[in-house]
Parts: sequence; structure tokens; C-alpha cells
Amino acid sequence: MKQMVSRVLPVLAVLLVAGCAAPPPAPVAAPPGYLDEARGIAAMVPANLLQVLTAELERGGPAGAIEVCRDKAPEMARAASARTGWNVRRASLRNRNPKGVPDAWERAVLERFDAQAAAGASGATLETHQVVTEDGKPYFRYAKALPTQALCVQCHGDPATLGTAVKARLQALYPDDRATGYAPGQIRGALFLKKPI
Ligand code: HEC
Repeated sequence: MKQMVSRVLPVLAVLLVAGCAAPPPAPVAAPPGYLDEARGIAAMVPANLLQVLTAELERGGPAGAIEVCRDKAPEMARAASARTGWNVRRASLRNRNPKGVPDAWERAVLERFDAQAAAGASGATLETHQVVTEDGKPYFRYAKALPTQALCVQCHGDPATLGTAVKARLQALYPDDRATGYAPGQIRGALFLKKPI
């Protein structure tokens, strides 16, 4: 009898504790394959843009490439969204495109990426993902950092070192531009992907 009590008591204790704690809402698990899919898209879109950008920089220099960046980057994000069913976009804490303002989740991620890069992490490796509930519906969200590379500073670097033609073009197209003053290695922004579950 004594032996039985000693066996049952711990079980009872566990049941009591488990029964008293309010059960957390069942978390929605990320569907299998979502993360791989997001990573695949996030690996492709910036690489494609970089290819177009590099070709245009060679052909027309940075001032000439600004228009390409303005038209091609949002166009490629739109095309990727239409092709894959994911919402794909770029945003930054210091945006150039007026639509590139981060939402609350994106802002928190960008601030974390900045802190990680400042602590020595390589921007190329920074990514994150989370299942979130927005307006009562679950979404899978993914972010990949877009670090400033050497070629980026031609259009995103210290205003004092930007070419005169680049500065004039940026001023005309983006009067509220906040996306200068970056050095290589700093996080310029991120690519954000989102899909309902
Ligand atoms: C030829 C000039 C040019 C170069 C070089 C350039 N960008 Fe941009 N960038 C722009 C313009 C113009 C925009 C605004 C249009 C848009 O939304 O893409 C922009 C916007 C962005 C945005 C969207 C957020 C925002 O600020 O509006 C990110 C992120 C970005 N650039 C990252 C980069 C990175 C990383 C590189 C280097 C790999 C780079 N850019 C190189 C001109 C340039």
C-alpha cells in the first residue's frame, strides 16, 4: 500500500499542476515546407536584382541605374508575389521608397538585425521567421537581411561621397530619401515574406 501511494502521489501532483495552469492557446505550427519555400524565394529575388543592377551600373553608371532600381526592384517583388503566392517586399528603418516603411513586426526584426550586425554578425547570414496572428488569422512571416555591399554605397553611402549626378537624381525622385549614410556591412533593410497559413 505504502509503495502504491508513493507511486501515485507524484502522478497526482503533476496532474494537479497541469490542471491548475491555464492552458495556453494551441500555437499554430508552421506548415511543413513553408520555411524552405521562403528561403528559396529570399535567395532568388535579391540575387536577380543584383544581376540587373550590376549590368546597369556597368552600362550607365549609378545615376543611370537609379531608374532601373526604382522600376525593377518593386516589379521583381511583385512578380515573385504573383508567381509564388507569398507577399514579397523590401522595407528599411531608413527607407528611400515611400512604401518601404516597416510595419511593427518588420521594425522589431530590423532593429534586431541591426543589433546583431553591430555585435559582429555577418549580415548575409541574418534571417528570422515566426507564426503570427493578425486580425485573428495566422500567418507565416519570414525576413532576410539585406546587408550593404561595396557597390550599394554608390547610391546609399555617405552623402558627401555620392556622385553629383546621383545626388541630383535621388533628390528629384525621392525628396524624402532617408537611405543614405550606409557603410559596407551595415544592414540596409530586409526582404520580407508573408503567407497565410
Ligand atoms: C543605382 C543606385 C542604387 C544602388 C547601386 C543600390 N540601390 Fe538600393 N535603392 C535604390 C533606389 C532608387 C531605391 C528605391 C526604389 C526601390 O524601392 O527599390 C532603393 C531601395 C532599396 C531598398 C528598399 C527599401 C528602401 O530604402 O526604400 C533596399 C532594401 C535597398 N535599396 C538595398 C540595396 C542594397 C542592399 C544594395 C546593394 C546590393 C543597393 N540597394 C544598391 C538605388 C540603388
